[in-house]
Amino acid sequence: MVEVVPAILVKSREELLECIARVRGSVSVVHIDMMDNEFVPNKTIGLESLAELPNGVSYEFHWMVKNPERWIAKINGNHLHLVHVETINKEKWGALKKICARSGCRLGLVLSPETTIEKLGPYIKDVSRVLVMAVHPGFYGQKYIPDVEKKIRALRAKFPKLEIEVDGGVSSETAGRACSAGANVLAAASAIYSARNPREAIKNISAAASAAKIVSGE
Ligand code: DX5
Ligand code: ZN
Repeated sequence: MVEVVPAILVKSREELLECIARVRGSVSVVHIDMMDNEFVPNKTIGLESLAELPNGVSYEFHWMVKNPERWIAKINGNHLHLVHVETINKEKWGALKKICARSGCRLGLVLSPETTIEKLGPYIKDVSRVLVMAVHPGFYGQKYIPDVEKKIRALRAKFPKLEIEVDGGVSSETAGRACSAGANVLAAASAIYSARNPREAIKNISAAASAAKIVSGE
């Protein structure tokens, strides 16, 4: 079963709440993009916008920030925190693990398009999810990079039980190929929020993903 997760890249709490409301009830998880204008040349909402998020849905945070451990330390709750492998080292990872042991959160790792799976080496044993970026982090509405499917295939071959999420350029046109390569979680922003009916768009992406899984014999 492939999970479709609406991705929310916004600059105000008002927009955040609106985006959550538009999909609540149709999905169990939403993906909140967090950017600091340092790791990527764009800035989103900050921590002040995350207080008392609506319930009825779980949250995964995609941290496109220079020092994820500083941000994550200030968030409570059993969320999934997706951290770019390009932003961590052993020390920062140790700090993140301690934070999650305390607050009950979960960690996942993110690979930018040019980052190889070898970079996951010291950390992969601690996570159940890797997010593979199919666009360069920073903006929604970019074109899906098919070349990252090689990386998805390699990851799937090496880690049969890993949750592999693909983020960037996911739509009902690209969902099938990402899932045939081995993805089982799909994050999408523009394909959902630019659609007249976001709930319908989620169903379409999900249907495209399931069709591909059947074709690939899984
Ligand atoms: C990109 C973000 C993505 C983005 C997806 O930096 O991490 O989550 O919002 O947007 P689409 O689906 O429009 O490519
Ligand atoms: Zn994202």
